[in-house]
Amino acid sequence: MFKVIASRMIVPNVHILTLEAPEVAQEAKPGQFIIVRASEEGERIPLSLSDWDADLGTVTVIFLNIGHTTNQLSLLEAGRSIPTVTGPLGNATKIENYGTVICMGGCYGIGSIFPIARALKEKGNKVITIIEGRSSYLFYWEDRFARISDKMVHITRDGSKGYRGHIDRLPEIIRDLDITVDRMIINGCTYAMKRGSEASKPLGITTWVSLNPIMIDGTGMCGVCRVSVGGTTRFACVHGPDFDGHEVNWDELLQRRKTYVPEEVVPMRTSACQRKCHQA
Ligand SMILES: Cc1cc2nc3c(=O)[nH]c(=O)nc-3n(C[C@H](O)[C@H](O)[C@H](O)COP(=O)(O)OP(=O)(O)OC[C@H]3O[C@@H](n4cnc5c(N)ncnc54)[C@H](O)[C@@H]3O)c2cc1C
Ligand code: FES
Repeated sequence: MFKVIASRMIVPNVHILTLEAPEVAQEAKPGQFIIVRASEEGERIPLSLSDWDADLGTVTVIFLNIGHTTNQLSLLEAGRSIPTVTGPLGNATKIENYGTVICMGGCYGIGSIFPIARALKEKGNKVITIIEGRSSYLFYWEDRFARISDKMVHITRDGSKGYRGHIDRLPEIIRDLDITVDRMIINGCTYAMKRGSEASKPLGITTWVSLNPIMIDGTGMCGVCRVSVGGTTRFACVHGPDFDGHEVNWDELLQRRKTYVPEEVVPMRTSACQRKCHQA
């Protein structure tokens, strides 16, 4: 069993969970993920590592409460345990001295881009952090990013902080900062990664994204995480999760992620009912 060290909602509907998993913490690298189960009967879900402490033997994930399992995880309190924490899985993000790198995170990707940005900074890169979201109240870890970023940029859909709109404003941001960008790395929801890749392509900026298809085993055995990149079939769990955003077949990925929507809606509704019944 893996002990919950800390658990709380960090901004509305986004949770931070720290688990005791010493072996994972020893090996963790930026860009890798773990697979967790919230209960013995539960499904396995992948979550990116947002931080870890090899000395304390802990790993930290940040997740969006979106369905049955993430909802179960959100209800965990410190001191409780979960049966499965497998990892670290996937290939680490390539950390080299590229020059100037834009690290963009949205939603849970604000958490998972953090160790990547930190490692890039330690490697001597100029790090421009872009965090994006619907509104400024959904931002977190800004203080952490401020310590490791040469420049921080905000994008909000409602204009409450920074640039109004979406990552489509990339050309303007680059012009305002008066920089030449050597690489861009995007973490977060599929749609944001797609749009970010579309925005960077005409600018000729090599762009890496961390894909999040549905996964089961996370070790290349089941084929569920199949994605098409550059016309070739790849398994995100073992060949990724990082891929060239300009080569990803985004429409296929978005479509495949919806495969189990009808099945996912049922447990979401009934588990809410069960919780109410227990409380009554
Ligand atoms: C390598 C990898 C790393 C990941 N890292 C993280 C992470 O760090 N934090 C995190 O929150 N999520 C992460 N995800 C996504 C996460 O695994 C799913 O959100 C999770 O499996 C949802 O499980 P659920 O049972 O709660 O929801 P489900 O019942 O499976 O899904 C509920 C509904 O939400 C939709 N949905 C599921 N996930 C998303 C999403 N991310 N964005 C938009 N719609 C979605 C589904 O299609 C469905 O309609 C990662 C995925 C991969 C493959
Ligand atoms: S999750 Fe099964 S092959 Fe990748």
